[in-house]
Amino acid sequence: MSGEILLLSGPNLDLLGERSPEIYGASSLDEHVARFRELAGAAGYEVRALQSNFEGDLIEAVHEAREKDVAIVINAGALTHSSWALRDALAIFEGVKIEVHLSNPAAREPFRHVSTLASVVNGSIAGFGALSYDLAFEAVRRLLETS
Ligand code: DQA
Repeated sequence: MSGEILLLSGPNLDLLGERSPEIYGASSLDEHVARFRELAGAAGYEVRALQSNFEGDLIEAVHEAREKDVAIVINAGALTHSSWALRDALAIFEGVKIEVHLSNPAAREPFRHVSTLASVVNGSIAGFGALSYDLAFEAVRRLLETS
């Protein structure tokens, strides 16, 4: 298989490694991206990775993905719990969409229990730390292979 996957990261994920390592682990975002790229590359996919602390940047990246990408893997950070605009952008994208989280938001504060994105993605993977990204790639791969 071939094609490009957009790996999108939202606010504060640029601080992974320094930010609450007891919750999010010790790896930096660059390390998660490198691992994801390695898995994707071995399966024949390219990866376009973008992190932004600004909601509009993420929305524009999703729009751009409509022309370029076969799948979107998104860790929207706290925008997961508040952004209806990002949800609407993802709803327009017709490829495979996977929501990913390092922690398990369902087991944390009540405001994290809602995901605005959950209803427009194929599925969500949360709570497995760095492994969440491996599982997200595996989900993309299988969905693309069977679609
Ligand atoms: C997160 C979970 C969110 O609730 C939080 O706001 C984040 C990271 C995760 O990967 O566990 O920024 O998306």
